[in-house]
This record gives sequence, C-alpha cells and structure tokens, in this order.
Amino acid sequence: MELAATFNEIGVRILNADSLVRAVLSGRRRNYQLDVERIEIRPVLIKDSVLLQVMSNDGVRTTTKNYAPTELNINELLNSGFANFLVESVDSVYSVRFTKKDRPLIHEGRVTKQQELNHDRVKSRLLPASDPYLIEIGISDLQGKVKPSRQDKFLQVEEFLRLLSPTLTAAISAGQIHKVSESNPIRIVDLGCGHAYLTFAAHQYLVSQALPVHVLGIDVREESRQRNTSIAQKLGINNSIEFRAEEIAQTKATEVDVAIALHACDTATDDALAWAVKNGAPLILAAPCCHHDLQTQMKAIPEPWGLVTRQGLLKERLGDILTDAIRVQILKILGYRVETVEFIGGEHTPRNLMIRAVKTGAQPESSEIAKYQQLISEWGFSPALAIRLAAELELAGA
Ligand SMILES: C[S@@+](CC[C@H](N)C(=O)[O-])C[C@H]1O[C@@H](n2cnc3c(N)ncnc32)[C@H](O)[C@@H]1O
Repeated sequence: MELAATFNEIGVRILNADSLVRAVLSGRRRNYQLDVERIEIRPVLIKDSVLLQVMSNDGVRTTTKNYAPTELNINELLNSGFANFLVESVDSVYSVRFTKKDRPLIHEGRVTKQQELNHDRVKSRLLPASDPYLIEIGISDLQGKVKPSRQDKFLQVEEFLRLLSPTLTAAISAGQIHKVSESNPIRIVDLGCGHAYLTFAAHQYLVSQALPVHVLGIDVREESRQRNTSIAQKLGINNSIEFRAEEIAQTKATEVDVAIALHACDTATDDALAWAVKNGAPLILAAPCCHHDLQTQMKAIPEPWGLVTRQGLLKERLGDILTDAIRVQILKILGYRVETVEFIGGEHTPRNLMIRAVKTGAQPESSEIAKYQQLISEWGFSPALAIRLAAELELAGA
C-alpha cells in the first residue's frame, strides 16, 4: 500500500469516534524531528458529543486537548514524523511501524474491545491491579485490588514505566538500542531492586507490549533474592527474570540496554549510575533516594550561598539539588544526553525526581567540564559518583 493510502487508513480509523478505542503515536521516523514523544488519542463523551481527546507527552508532562473529529488536523499529526502507529478499535488492532529504512510495516488483527467514553475516568492503567504478579508481590490483595498501604508504591512503579516505555521506544527507533527479537531481547538491569516491584512490573509490562525482555534484579539482600526468585518461579517467568544478591559495585559486567534504579538508598544511586556507565548502558533511568553524601560535605560554604545554607531546610534542599546536578553533569561529560523529570506528583513520594540519560557518545564542550570543575572545587566536594567514575572522567578531560 502506498504511504498516502496507509496514512489515510490510519486517519479514517482514528477519526471514527464511534469505533475508536485508542490510538498511540510514538517513536521517531528517520530524518524527522518531533516536539512530543508520544500522543494518545481516545474518544470521550462531553455534553452528549463524542470528541477526540488528544494527550501529547513531551517526556516531562502531558498536555490534553479535546477536538470534534472534524476539527482534528489528522494529516498534520500523521505526517509529523512518528514511527509507530497503533489504532485499537472495537473490532481490530491496526498497527504501522516505520523501519530504519523508513518502510512502513503494517499489521492488522481482530479483537473485541469496548470503548470507554467517560471523560473523567481515572487515568488508564498500565498495570491491571488484578494481574497475578501484583498479587504475588504483595501490591494487590487476593481480590485484585491495590492494598491501601501499597498504593503509593504502585503509582510510583506505574509512573516510572510511563516514562520508561516511550524512552525505550524512541531509543529503539533511533538505533540507540539494538533491534529486539526473541534471541536478542531488551536487557534491563534493576539496581537496588528490593522487593522487585519495579523489576516485575517492567518485565510484565514489556511482555504485554510483545517486546522480548530479560530482566536482572540486583540487591545486596539475600532474602530479597530468595523471595523474588520464588515469585518468578511461581509465575513461571524465571527464564526471563533473574535475581542476584550482591553489591551493585560488585555486580559483574553484563550486557545491558536499560539500567533502572528506583530509590536506591543514598550513594547506592551513585553505584547504580557508575555501574550503568561502566557497562555502557545506552539508557539509564534512575530516581534517587536520600542524599546524605554531599549533605555531610557542605561545610565550607562559598559565599553568597551562606544566605541559603543558614536555613537548615533550605540547606538540605540545596544539597539534594547539588547532588543531582553534579550527577547529571558527570553523565553529560561522559557522553549522555540527560534530563531530570518529575515522574510522579510529590504527594506520592518526595523522592519524585528522575534522572533520564540516553547515551549519545557526544564529546562534552570544554566549558561544560570547566563549570563542573568550578562547582565541585568552590564547594570542596568530592562527590560519590566522581570517585566511582574517576578513571572515566579523567579520560574525558575532567
Ligand atoms: C529503598 S529500597 C528500594 C527498593 C526498590 N527499588 C523499590 O523501589 O521498591 C533500596 C534497596 O537498595 C538496596 N541496596 C542499597 N545499597 C545497595 C548496594 N550497594 N548494592 C545493592 N543493593 C543495595 C537495599 O537493600 C534496598 O533493598
């Protein structure tokens, strides 16, 4: 089918608000630039009219707008440069994926789905609460409802995945992560995995997206390894999810596509970032935990920062910010494109910042190295991450 006909087919299916369940546009086509990472379109019932709700996510936040089907400029959207199109209707799933050579691969399957037109519906779940693995890992109760005491952790994991998913798709489309197949799955390493809420969720979610995956969970605690391994066995997924009890820094070099860490305590986040860099992880997503390392080093305060640090609370917050800013800059110097994003509202955890890094191999500008050196020398810092990556930083000229 010609490209124009393919886009026409996608457009017709999306604009058919009576049968559309949802459409997702993601990834980037070769030679295109995109302002947003992902667009999801759903029909919603507002004052007796079915409108199309367009949710655009730029990697940091989601913007939502509602359009009458006749008002939506579908051609502009379809031609803006997305590489993957998924259109779920009540009776079919139609998908188009542009290959690296910019050829569209089309797939259609028959399904039976229902429209959900409620405008105020709760955000669609990536993880159905009744999924057996959520019951096994103790997030949901036996009735398949998220336990009140686990609600925050459930949301943290889900929002973490909401960022992981488009970042991963974009990295695969851009060739930063290898082509995925059964024999060459995406390899995810979760550093400081604890009870493995995120580890299992990442595995199950990517499997549900038909992406072959191998997940490795690392935690220093042997009881975590035993518990997580027996859950994986019970779920029959122990071929593709594995747990080891070891210090992150001692974890042997292994092939990794995505290194993740959710609230690895204090300098365990630095261990995780250093491990990811040393093992050449193309993607890193780390949500840091407490920040004690630099807090204890904030002694000789370069003025005029004394204005801030004489207030205990502000000193603590500044210490957190400096810690993460230094982590970001080190990754940047070592060839990563780095962003910090809030992955979840602060009401669910005050530790809601995520460092998202994609390896580009770009050489840092000398001014970036100079700013980093100036910052740590003015404060007299010896950051944990810089110690762990001393050789790499020296090689990069920092
Ligand atoms: C706050 S828990 C977070 C667990 C999990 N990622 C989550 O979000 O539910 C931090 C975990 O990191 C582990 N940990 C801390 N330092 C570590 C290290 N150096 N090596 C391996 N695991 C470590 C702890 O045992 C603990 O299970």
